[in-house]
Amino acid sequence: MATRHYHSLLLSFLSLLLLSAADDAAVMSKLLSSLSAAPSGWSSSTHFCDWRNVNCDSTSSFVTGIDLNAAAVSGTLPPELNQLSQLKSLAVQRNSLTGTLPSFENMTSLEQIFLDNNDFTSIPNNFLLRLTSLQTFSISENMNLDQWEIPSYLTESTNLVTFYASNASLNGIIPDIFGSFPNLQSLRLSYNNLTGSLPGSFSGSDIQNLWLNNQRQGLSGTIDVLSNMTQLYQVWVHDNTFSGGIPDLSKCTNLFDLQLRDNRFTGVVPPSLMNLPNLANITLQNNKLQGPYPKFPSRVQATIGTTNSFCLDEPGPCDPQVSILLHVAEALGYPMSLAESWEGNNACQDWRFINCDSQGRNVTVVNMGRQGFSGSISPAFANLTSLRTLILSDNNLTGVIPSILTTLANLQIFDVSNNNLSGPIPMFPGNVRFTYGGNLLLGKNESNGGGGGGSRAAGGNPSDPNGNSGSSKGSVSGGMIAGVVIAVVIFVGVVLFVSYKCYVKRHQKRFTRIEGSELGKEMSTTNGINGYGGVPSEVQSHSSGDHSEIPVFEGGNVVISIQVLRQVTNNFSEENVLGRGGFGVVYKGELPDGTKIAVKRMESGAIGTKGMNEFQAEIAVLTKVRHRHLVALLGYCINGNERLLVYEYMPQGTLGQHLFEWQEHGYKPLTWKQRVTIALDVARGVEYLHSLAQQSFIHRDLKPSNILLSDVMRAKVADFGLVRNAPDGKYSIETRLAGTFGYLAPEYAATGRVTTKVDVYAFGVILMEIITGRKALDETMPDERSHLVTWFRRVLINKENIRKSIDPILDPDDETYESICKVAELAGHCTAREPFQRPDMGHAVNVLVPLVEQWKPSKPEEEEGYGININMSLPQALQRWQADEGTSRMFDDFSYSNTQSSIPPSGFDSFSSMDCR
Ligand SMILES: Nc1ncnc2c1ncn2[C@@H]1O[C@H](COP(=O)(O)OP(=O)(O)O)[C@@H](O)[C@H]1O
Ligand SMILES: *[C@@H]1O[C@H](CO)[C@@H](O)[C@H](O)[C@H]1NC(C)=O
Ligand SMILES: *[C@@H]1O[C@H](CO)[C@@H](O)[C@H](O)[C@H]1NC(C)=O
Ligand SMILES: *[C@@H]1O[C@H](CO)[C@@H](O)[C@H](O)[C@H]1NC(C)=O
Ligand SMILES: *[C@@H]1O[C@H](CO)[C@@H](O)[C@H](O)[C@H]1NC(C)=O
Ligand SMILES: *[C@@H]1O[C@H](CO)[C@@H](O)[C@H](O)[C@H]1NC(C)=O
Repeated sequence: MATRHYHSLLLSFLSLLLLSAADDAAVMSKLLSSLSAAPSGWSSSTHFCDWRNVNCDSTSSFVTGIDLNAAAVSGTLPPELNQLSQLKSLAVQRNSLTGTLPSFENMTSLEQIFLDNNDFTSIPNNFLLRLTSLQTFSISENMNLDQWEIPSYLTESTNLVTFYASNASLNGIIPDIFGSFPNLQSLRLSYNNLTGSLPGSFSGSDIQNLWLNNQRQGLSGTIDVLSNMTQLYQVWVHDNTFSGGIPDLSKCTNLFDLQLRDNRFTGVVPPSLMNLPNLANITLQNNKLQGPYPKFPSRVQATIGTTNSFCLDEPGPCDPQVSILLHVAEALGYPMSLAESWEGNNACQDWRFINCDSQGRNVTVVNMGRQGFSGSISPAFANLTSLRTLILSDNNLTGVIPSILTTLANLQIFDVSNNNLSGPIPMFPGNVRFTYGGNLLLGKNESNGGGGGGSRAAGGNPSDPNGNSGSSKGSVSGGMIAGVVIAVVIFVGVVLFVSYKCYVKRHQKRFTRIEGSELGKEMSTTNGINGYGGVPSEVQSHSSGDHSEIPVFEGGNVVISIQVLRQVTNNFSEENVLGRGGFGVVYKGELPDGTKIAVKRMESGAIGTKGMNEFQAEIAVLTKVRHRHLVALLGYCINGNERLLVYEYMPQGTLGQHLFEWQEHGYKPLTWKQRVTIALDVARGVEYLHSLAQQSFIHRDLKPSNILLSDVMRAKVADFGLVRNAPDGKYSIETRLAGTFGYLAPEYAATGRVTTKVDVYAFGVILMEIITGRKALDETMPDERSHLVTWFRRVLINKENIRKSIDPILDPDDETYESICKVAELAGHCTAREPFQRPDMGHAVNVLVPLVEQWKPSKPEEEEGYGININMSLPQALQRWQADEGTSRMFDDFSYSNTQSSIPPSGFDSFSSMDCR
């Protein structure tokens, strides 16, 4: 009696909330009238508790169950259904019901909801909210539903056992809520448009039956979490975009049906999968699985297909090198890029990131820089015994550097810079160029530290004006030696400079014949940066700009207003900075017609006020020096203390960047064909400079950072704009030493004698750098190797040694090797100790031409049309722009006169004269 009393109290309370107070009659009558074709056994003339398959509570007032499974009804479910406060089970599946579903919110008694195989069209908000008793929910096969998402508030339904929503217009992700359903056994979500990855809360769940197959756009990420779902017996994840390897499922001993086909799985099929005791059905086709072809026991119905990347078409072990590289891929989480290109059983056959020796047998180069790889460095690399170059820089690698890699006997280059590696820094032998900067946690607890790099000094040679080549690098083998070498270099520099000063003082009288237009470059003893030196005072009195010595070029100047330069460089904005030299910043500019220019901006502080005065006269001449292998100086501008030089723009940066910093810049390493072509371009440019009319121009600072590259990797010599011009056939003595350590001809360094052979020497050094990939001065090398010329000339004594000295990234075939040897020989010749023993540039051109000819481009366009149209001067381009734009006084101090007609037709029309000599 007490419970009855309690019950009626509760009811009267509920009656305040619910529209229908007395019982469920009104709701059931509404339901009956909403269904078309009344279910058999249902009639408005009988009590609802007597309808077929309707259950009521003991008072016969409240409905507890409605079963209309396959009752052949259509129509809708009325929204009032949620007033059936005692309803435990609603089964309306396999009918033709349509329209909006009722909300089930707050129906705390409801345990079973079967809505599947109908034609419902929409779902109210919060329709499953607060269903604390819910155990089974099935809405599968309602393919015309509006899109909806699995609600996160479902976590209140902690008794959930079954959730079916296949082909039910589900969108969005699978929410990470499965920690809330300790009893969930069956989750079927096939044929929807679910995206994202498997939720981590699947881990440890009791799900046995998991259907996630055929998502329209595809679920993604790995299926690693399955390895923790030990109750699984059926897993359908086919037709998605899952990736990564198949995890170790050996704990899923009940698993009998595993559908993995039509995904993006990679990696080796784990042997444990083949040994699963209950496996009966598995599909693997249409993935990128790697390694040995899997072999399942005969009881297993396995579909493996032909579209994977297995090393062989039948079970059996892979080639040892292939197996090693698969371990490498495993440590990286089997990235798709590797699975796609690492096909077949021969790692030397077109595998991406891999180079092999010339016999095509042993892997010598693994270059995986900048691939966005994560994961770790596999110790298996140590089994690639022929490995010479291993580049893993600029990825997201974590973990330690396996110390076993120090046993790689042939390793020369090992670059792991810019990752997130940690742990100790292994000690490599001294001949290994080991770079590891940009790994914040690396070597943190070690006494030798290095603080994860940065211990190595910046730049290769100390006078590299860009000084950015190695700023974030560290080098164990280089560390100490680098310091010593730098100290020695600086000491030598100081000695040279001081002895020079003395020499100049003693011989002052001799200098009076230096041309007034001299604008020497000087060597700074502190940083070795070349630039625009002040003209010595003793010369000033003669500096009337006597151009009679260079009559051919007499003529106009090419002044460009500062306003124009401001405009085209976006007011010298930081985004336009191309690089910084020793004496100014170089900006990129773009004329309205799309022509790109480089503007070098110098302040008087850098040039020296005296030099400033000479500037204008000199420039007027040099703007006329045009050759397809010289970067054209297009004009200049004087603005207060500023001097601006305008050059044609060279989009591919410097040869130095491509030889020594290609990884940092994301370039491909230069091929030998490109290198020898560049060498010929440089030789031709310098040859032209040396033979300019009766006048001999000497560059004096040839080096890779002064060689700029076009879009098609053709070279032009830069910074020749302020060259020394020397009287024909004679040498002059420099007042100040210009040039860069490592490239200085010995007689020039010792006595200041400047002849064209100074450039020939520097050219020889550049050839050595092109061959070896090493800088003229490399502080990371042991002492006896740090000065390239000394070392390489010793290599040349025995030709057999050349092969070992070649840039390891090249790995030449026989024909290439022959070409390299010829260039090596030329390099030796050019760097002969005595100037007279060195050839002239014409000889260098003659040696290089047949080597380039071998690879002569078939398309003439490749030779033509790069860079600016050098037949049109910048002022012409600007004038055209001015005319087009109709702007009036854009170029206030514009005074250019075209003197092309005064230039002799041969020798100066650089296009037609190219091959004259
Ligand atoms: N004409 C150009 N086109 C494109 N980039 C250039 C050009 N000239 C110079 N640069 C860039 O600006 C940097 C600095 O140049 P520069 O001042 O000439 O150096 P340096 O001190 O060697 O003379 C170069 O390393 C190069 O990256
Ligand atoms: C469900 O119950 C909450 C309070 O428990 C109430 O605020 C809400 O309005 C109810 N929703 C419906 C649809 O009855
Ligand atoms: C599938 O889901 C994606 C991502 O949510 C969405 O961009 C796409 O429009 C959906 N496609 C369909 C057909 O619903
Ligand atoms: C598997 O479970 C363990 C222990 O709970 C956990 O550390 C690991 O991250 C889980 N693995 C996956 C892939 O979820
Ligand atoms: C394997 O799966 C396929 C497709 O789901 C099915 O047709 C076949 O009967 C299954 N075989 C076994 C042994 O379960
Ligand atoms: C290639 O590797 C094998 C085994 O590692 C070795 O024996 C052989 O000498 C190597 N060949 C070359 C050309 O380095």
